[in-house]
Amino acid sequence: MAERVLRPRRSNLAVPGSSPKMLEKAKGLPADQVFLDIEDAVAPLAKPEARKNIVAALNEGGYGNKVRTVRVNDFTTEWTYRDVIEVVEGAGANLDCIMLPKVQTAEQVVTLDTLLTQIEKANGLEVGRLGIEAQIENALGLVNVDAIAAASPRVETIIFGPADFMASINMRTLVVGEQPAGYTEGDAYHYILMRILMAARAHDKQAIDGPYLQIRDVDGYRRVADRAAALGFDGKWVLHPGQVDAANEVFSPKQDDFDHAELILDAYAYYTSEAGGKLGAVMIGSEMIDEASNKMALVISGKGRAAGMQRTIWFDPASDDARSSAPPEAS
Ligand code: GLV
Ligand code: MG
Repeated sequence: MAERVLRPRRSNLAVPGSSPKMLEKAKGLPADQVFLDIEDAVAPLAKPEARKNIVAALNEGGYGNKVRTVRVNDFTTEWTYRDVIEVVEGAGANLDCIMLPKVQTAEQVVTLDTLLTQIEKANGLEVGRLGIEAQIENALGLVNVDAIAAASPRVETIIFGPADFMASINMRTLVVGEQPAGYTEGDAYHYILMRILMAARAHDKQAIDGPYLQIRDVDGYRRVADRAAALGFDGKWVLHPGQVDAANEVFSPKQDDFDHAELILDAYAYYTSEAGGKLGAVMIGSEMIDEASNKMALVISGKGRAAGMQRTIWFDPASDDARSSAPPEAS
């Protein structure tokens, strides 16, 4: 099986496969990921054409370093097998993942995995390279989310699909991301988001928040995105170019936090070394750090580095606050 790579996914841009114009435009937008849709953004009669448009757009190239995903229809429809076969046979070498919506059981993920393996073998593609992104969009999917996350090494993300989910559980609201009227205590999404996050983290997957439909309200987008980012989610869908920058910003560490994390990593590496005295818990400036601080710093630093961030302070054991504004070579 192919080795899985960790892909940055702060912004996940939805692109309807029925629109060659949008498939083209997406190539130039600064989203970490595009997902080319054959599901709910495409009318039933337009699905055959959408498959063809997507294959053509992928083979033509131009998506740069973006993660290239295709969302197929869910396994309760008559379209899924043909979506997968047509897209992977037609453009498997220019594709990274298949997104499976409305996943309800681990068996559905295993079925997709088996189908992908067969297509890869029959077409000379590297077996196991294509990942699976599993959308949780109803109560049964959420109840089974642990097994879904563990169902295949291909699974890379667990995605919350709030619109379908709210409909499936009869939540009393029409506005995705906003609290249902009458629910005055707490956050109605908290349990769902945390449940998805726990399953993702327990099985080493990424957790992705779904869409925010008020596409002109970028402040609203930011507010809802920030909730998921604060909990630990890795990214969120964007439905409009105007949401891309907000997603990239919200899901990247702040510069101060990135600098701080880099400082902790360097200081901890130094103080635990022979030269630094083989220490465990140590002080950097007025802050005590230990192995757990190092782990937290690795998370922030990993996200920042994946986003291409550059540090602006460096570790200097000789300075009072352990910081230097110049890299060691230059000081
Ligand atoms: C996304 O697919 C959603 O249903 O929110
Ligand atoms: Mg949906």
